[in-house]
Amino acid sequence: MRMLLIANWKMHYGPIKAGGWIRAFRRERLPKNIDIAVAVPHVSLAAARASLGRASIPALAAQDVFWGEDGPYTGEISASMLDEFGVQYCLVGHSERRSVMGETDDMVAKKAAALQKAGIVPVICVGETSAQYKKGETNKIIRQQTTAAIAKLDVDSKTPFVFAYEPVWSIGSGKACPAQKAKEVHDVIRGVIQKKMNENIAEKVLILYGGSIDVNNIAEYLTTTGINGALVGGASLDPRVFGLLCRTAMPS
Ligand code: 13P
Repeated sequence: MRMLLIANWKMHYGPIKAGGWIRAFRRERLPKNIDIAVAVPHVSLAAARASLGRASIPALAAQDVFWGEDGPYTGEISASMLDEFGVQYCLVGHSERRSVMGETDDMVAKKAAALQKAGIVPVICVGETSAQYKKGETNKIIRQQTTAAIAKLDVDSKTPFVFAYEPVWSIGSGKACPAQKAKEVHDVIRGVIQKKMNENIAEKVLILYGGSIDVNNIAEYLTTTGINGALVGGASLDPRVFGLLCRTAMPS
């Protein structure tokens, strides 16, 4: 199974800086045995695409989508519009969207299904808050979020989906969830997929870890069974740091 590393810039880098990041990242020596993508703000997709030229690495990812087909949804962006840009992955249900923008499990499910229909790989983010973690509710919350998110996916689709376990308390806090603990949660996600979908999909689904990943801890996660890559925030903002992180993750 090929590992997947996704840079999530969040709300950083308009078109000018996005183009510069891509050009700098293309100068990095990158491992060939790993998939790499970068999730850029919608307004920067065109500049990122132009700076990529014919290069296919990193793959382009979006950070959000609306579930409707083209229509009267002012301000929103459809999966088919993302497809026109050659977007291969799109994040859905990031905890910042759930908490700041009020995104619900049902909205996440609709977005994931719309992406899958358009042939874009949804990267479904799940994670418990600090309060839920302290109350020992992690597995319950993850089971709920996972069950809801896959409810509208098509088991026969050729377009796979990816999960990212991002404990909210570890995002941007410098407190990464210990790899063994993350592995246990990944097993919960895989278990739900096996039960609600099927064994084959559960075996193949990539489950990434995200939350305070950096150059010093990435290798530990990627050598832990059941962790198939990482979703990286802060440590992806500098293209050279992210390049080093990719090399550290998977020496070629
Ligand atoms: P940090 O890597 O900055 O903790 O962010 C993680 C994240 O939210 C990626 O989507």
